[in-house]
Amino acid sequence: MNQLDAEKIIESLREGIPPDGKVSLLTVGRIEEINRLRQILHKGGPKALLIKADYGCGKTHLLKFIKEEALNLGYVASLITLDSKSNARFNRMDQIFGQVCRNIQVPGINQKSVRYLFDALFNPKNKLKLSSEKAEKLMFKISNGGKWNYSNFLRSPSMFIAVRAWKFSYDNNHKNPPGIDDAIEDWLFNPYNYYSQRKSLYYKFIANLRNYFLDPRPEWKFYDPREGIFNFQIKGYEQSWDALYDLNTLAEAAGYKGLVILVDEFEDVIYNLRNIKYQQDAFWNLSQFFSGERFPGLAFFAVTPNFVEKCKKLLQEKNIWDFDYSTFDRLEKFQMSPLSTNELLELSEKIIKIHEIAYSWNINEKIKEKIRKICINSSRIPVGDRVRQTIKNIVKELDSYLRVN
Ligand SMILES: Nc1ncnc2c1ncn2[C@@H]1O[C@H](COP(=O)(O)OP(=O)(O)O)[C@@H](O)[C@H]1O
Ligand SMILES: [Mg+2]
Repeated sequence: MNQLDAEKIIESLREGIPPDGKVSLLTVGRIEEINRLRQILHKGGPKALLIKADYGCGKTHLLKFIKEEALNLGYVASLITLDSKSNARFNRMDQIFGQVCRNIQVPGINQKSVRYLFDALFNPKNKLKLSSEKAEKLMFKISNGGKWNYSNFLRSPSMFIAVRAWKFSYDNNHKNPPGIDDAIEDWLFNPYNYYSQRKSLYYKFIANLRNYFLDPRPEWKFYDPREGIFNFQIKGYEQSWDALYDLNTLAEAAGYKGLVILVDEFEDVIYNLRNIKYQQDAFWNLSQFFSGERFPGLAFFAVTPNFVEKCKKLLQEKNIWDFDYSTFDRLEKFQMSPLSTNELLELSEKIIKIHEIAYSWNINEKIKEKIRKICINSSRIPVGDRVRQTIKNIVKELDSYLRVN
C-alpha cells in the first residue's frame, strides 16, 4: 500500500466507512460467514441468500465485501440499495433492472455502469486475457454468426437492440454517430422513461444504423403493443426479468463468470412500500430470485433479523391468506451477531498501521494504549452505531497527535 492509498482510506474512515474496493482489507471476524460466501461464489450456488443482522452489525459491509470478492474471482457485480421513495422499488422489476445497469461493475474498473460490460464484450484485449471457448460460442449465438441482423438468443429484444447498437458505436470509438453510447446507457438506466418514445428508440438504434446491419423486421413491429419490444413492464415485467437473465449471459460472453446482484436495505419493502399489493409483488420477486429460474446468476439480500416474521405479520394483518407463507421459511439465510470487542481491537490495529503509512509516523505504545481503551469503552455505545462511531473515534484520536506536531 502506498502513501496516497493509505491517505484515501483514512479519509474515508473519518466518516466511519471503508472506501469502495478496500473493504476486505478492513474486515475482521466473520470467518464462518466469509467461508460460506466464498464457497457459494466458487460453486456458483445456491442461487440466493438472505443475510440477516441488526442495524450496525455489518450487512452493508458484508455486501461490499462479497462484491469485492466476486470481482476478484472474475464475476461482474452490481450492488443496489432499495429505496421506495426514488426509482428503486422491488415490485417494479423495470426499476430494479435499471438500478442493476447503473451500479454494475466489471473486474479491474472502478466506475459503475453497464457501459463497461458492453465495452468489455467487444474489447479484443479483454478477449485475449479472458477468452474461453464458451465466451466465443456465446458471442456467435448472440450476434447470429456476426451478422447482427436478428437473433432470439438473448431473451430480451431490447437488450439485443442495445448490444447491437453498442457494437457499432464501439467500432467507431463511440464517436460516430455521436452520443449513441450515452443514449443507450440512459435508456437502460431508466427504461420506464421511454415507454412512450418507441419511435425515437427505433430511429436512434435501428433505422439510423442501417449501414451496419439489416434488421428484417418492419417498422410497425417495433410499435406493436402486443410485441412490446421496448416495454419492460407488460406480462408481469417479463422483459425486465429477461434482461437480467441476459446481463448474466453477456457477462459470460465477455469472458467473466457471470453476474452477482447484491441488494441492500431490503426491509424497505416492509417500511416504505406503502401498498399491500406492491409488497406482495416484492415478496414474489424475492422468491423468484431464490428459485433461480428467472435469473441464473447469484443474488444476495440484506435484511434485519426478524424480516421473515415481519413479512408474515404484514400479510396476515391485511388478511392475505392465498400467499404461500412457507416461501419465506425456505429462503436460505444466515445471521450475524455484532462485532466483539476483540474484533474491534483487531480492526483498530489495522487502522493504526494504515494511519502510520498515510502520515509517515510511528505510533508509540502510549497512543496504542489509548486506542485500545476507545475500543473497550465502545461497548457503551448503542449497537446500531457502535462500530462506525468507534472507527471515527480512533481516527480522530490518531489525527489529534498529528495536529500537535
Ligand atoms: N466484519 C467487519 N469488519 C470490519 N468492520 C465492519 C465489519 N462489519 C461491519 N463493519 C463496520 O461497521 C459499521 C456498520 O456496518 P454496516 O455494514 O453499515 O451495518 P448495517 O448495514 O448492518 O447497518 C461500518 O462502519 C462497517 O464498515
Ligand atoms: Mg446498511
